[in-house]
Formats: sequence, structure tokens, C-alpha cells
Amino acid sequence: MKRENYLNAVNNTLEKNIFYHSLALEACMGGIYDYLQKNNLLKNNELPKDDWLIAGLIHDIDYVGEFKEYHPNKTKEALIKSNLEVKNEIITLIKSHAPKSTGVNPTTQAQWSIFCADSLTGLIVAVALVYPSKKLAEVKVSSVLKRFLKEPKFAAGTRRDEVKLCELSEGLNIPLEKFIEICLTSMQQIAPQIGL
Ligand SMILES: [Fe+2]
Repeated sequence: MKRENYLNAVNNTLEKNIFYHSLALEACMGGIYDYLQKNNLLKNNELPKDDWLIAGLIHDIDYVGEFKEYHPNKTKEALIKSNLEVKNEIITLIKSHAPKSTGVNPTTQAQWSIFCADSLTGLIVAVALVYPSKKLAEVKVSSVLKRFLKEPKFAAGTRRDEVKLCELSEGLNIPLEKFIEICLTSMQQIAPQIGL
């Protein structure tokens, strides 16, 4: 399972903004995993970090062409087009980011992570774009939190009700502000790769 192969597949398949979003979610998945591990909060039946990362990277790979209306139920088929595959646990993990389309509700920490972080990336990008420099480096946790809580029309595509479920005790049990901090700092680390 080589990252480079999946990266090329996503890059060659998706529009640039969705490609950037894919890289952003991959970074968030890695950041959340590291946070849980560092704080001894990672449950021992969780998938390895590489699986979290690949799932983030390819979660939208079927959001194109004939598969788009079935997204994210056609990950396997979309991967086959690039001569790639992943194990079933990763397919299930990807499905859990869109329960309404797949019927797979998040239960594991990895599943809650992909579910809660998916649409938060868009809000973080939108906050960066407000600055004249359009740089993620300028963005503060407090600015993202303020836009999140007090300006529901800002980056309206961000499903705030879903992101907020990061606080669920039976899920990730991470306070919203901390969750935003983890995702923001993860994205800042790859800012040049996502044009920010
Ligand atoms: Fe996504």
C-alpha cells in the first residue's frame, strides 16, 4: 500500500479543489490519530495510522463521472480504474464519512474522525481565504471557532452539526476547540501542497 500510488490516482482523477480537500483530510486524519495516541486515548482495536491516512486521501475518489451520484459507495470501482485496491476495513471507514448515502454510521475513532473532519476542512480553508495573503499560517483557532459558532452562513457547506459530534463521549470525546486546533495545525503543515 504505497501512498504515492493513491496520491497519483486522486490527483489524476479529481478536480483540483477536491484533490486539495483530499490532502487536507488526509492531514487531519493523521493529526487526530497522533493526538489520540500521544494522549493515550487511542483504543487498541483501531486501524493502523496508514489506514487512517489512505482513507482520508481517497475518500472522495469516486466523486467524479459515472460514480459521482453513488459517492462514496463506488470507492472500489474507482480504484480499479487506477489498478488499485484497498482492504475492506478502509472501504468501510470511507463509507462512514457519509452515513446518509451508505448506511454506515461511525462507531470507531477512525470513523468518527473522517465523519467529523470531512467538512471542517472547507471552513478552515475559507477562513484562510479571508486574509489578503490567503495563507493558512495566519489562521488562528479562535477565528475558526468564531466563524463556526457565530456565523452559520460563512462556509455554509460545513456541516457544523456533524463536526460538533467530535465531542461525543462514545466517539472521539474531543472538545470542539481542540478538534479545530488539531485539524488546523495538521493542514498548516501541508499548506504549500494545498495552495495555501
Ligand atoms: Fe470529503
